Amino acid sequence: MERETHILLFAYPVQGHINPMLQFSKRLASKGLRVTFVTTTSIGNSMQALPSHSINVEIISDGSEEAEDAESIDASLERYKLHVSQSLPKLIEKHYSSRYPPKILVYDSIMPWVLEIARKIGIDGVPFFTQSCVVNAINYHANHGAIQMPIEEGASISLPSIPSLGFDDLPSFLCDKGLYPAWLKLALNQFSNFQEANWLLCNTFNELENEVVNWMTSQQWPVKTIGPAIPSIYLDKRLEDDKGYGVHLFKPDVDACMKWLDTKETDSVVYTSFGSLASLGEGQMDELTRGLKNSNCYFLWVVRETEQKKLPPNFLQETSEKGLVVSWCPQLEVLAHKAVGCFMTHCGWNSTLEALSLGVPMVAMPIWSDQPTNAKFIVDVWKVGVRIKLDERGIATKEEIELCIKEVIEGERGKEMKKNSVRWKELAKEAVDEGGSSDKNIEEFVAKLVQS
Ligand code: UDX
Repeated sequence: MERETHILLFAYPVQGHINPMLQFSKRLASKGLRVTFVTTTSIGNSMQALPSHSINVEIISDGSEEAEDAESIDASLERYKLHVSQSLPKLIEKHYSSRYPPKILVYDSIMPWVLEIARKIGIDGVPFFTQSCVVNAINYHANHGAIQMPIEEGASISLPSIPSLGFDDLPSFLCDKGLYPAWLKLALNQFSNFQEANWLLCNTFNELENEVVNWMTSQQWPVKTIGPAIPSIYLDKRLEDDKGYGVHLFKPDVDACMKWLDTKETDSVVYTSFGSLASLGEGQMDELTRGLKNSNCYFLWVVRETEQKKLPPNFLQETSEKGLVVSWCPQLEVLAHKAVGCFMTHCGWNSTLEALSLGVPMVAMPIWSDQPTNAKFIVDVWKVGVRIKLDERGIATKEEIELCIKEVIEGERGKEMKKNSVRWKELAKEAVDEGGSSDKNIEEFVAKLVQS
């Protein structure tokens, strides 16, 4: 049957934002929509691995071809917006005058200016929020003046439907006294025009963030939770061939990781990764190497190529019996492997959702952005992990790292966390399975599009 209802989705070109939107695109295609997934040139050729889910992929220019090597964050965001403001309308217009004009453009919420571009051409726009609803609510309150910034150390913040948050639990951009103005602006601007949108799509599930989702609904926000946006093979298994997100912006060492894990016993390995962006100082890397070594557990550690020079000399040789260091891995396959008993994570929202959905307890070591808030919920609300305490220099020491790993892998509390993780895994699966909360929301979204 011809797919008649056409939808465009426009992703921001970083790993943690492409993954969930691409996954959501596959879901929409599986519900019978004609889907065009759009992203920009800075992702290079990394989309080659896309599986065959009837998704059309379009890459438009973001000017990265001409970007200078030492481009500042501000300059890169400005250059991106300038180029996309020209290339995106052209693409929308091309599709608009085709046999199947798109009915809607879903765009990453960190680019609120896309709504105007879409509406000028005559199609509606819908923001897609990559981060948790709690973090979205905090950013909303900050943008609407309900949080006094900069937040002082020692302060705690009370917001509707959210447990009281200490200084260390808040998104870092609100607390860092203007260290990353461009990122702060991006986080807050998501709420500059969101009330004009007819839907707010969020990569989470109702059961996980029930209170804040209810609060948003009580404010008449048109929130629809559609997550976890994770390949079907790990959840409901309803989409054929859906084994991975389909895009790695770094080259994964698949065979090395999976073969190594196959030789290890159940729940014996600590998987360690800090995502696609975070960078650790040399002192922190040193403590981490010692903490991992002293825990005496097997460890699989993702150290991106740009970070590898910070590893102490001889570390790899000295630990080759216990550890494997790779520059990128197939994270979902790794988390789903029975040998992995614990995930030491920076608490990026995708990593957090993936660990929850695959039943893996965590050692939380947030670095920046939304990660401290995710860590707070991992420990105190979902009760699936411990958080590493930093010393007075802001460093996670080797002793603390060793202690936290042992607590999750061997301790009594670790057993409780494992039980809770398995419960969240079931709830995540139920949410996307037929008739589940996220599935119903996606069905409703699709039905409205088809009727419109
Ligand atoms: C960024 C932000 O830092 C994060 O806080 C925000 O919530 C989303 O955007 P990132 O830091 O890369 O993302 O972390 P995360 O959200 O965890 O996303 C990383 C993605 O890369 C995950 O989907 C993970 O499965 C994947 N990954 C990571 C791999 O496939 N292989 C790896 O080796 C490491």
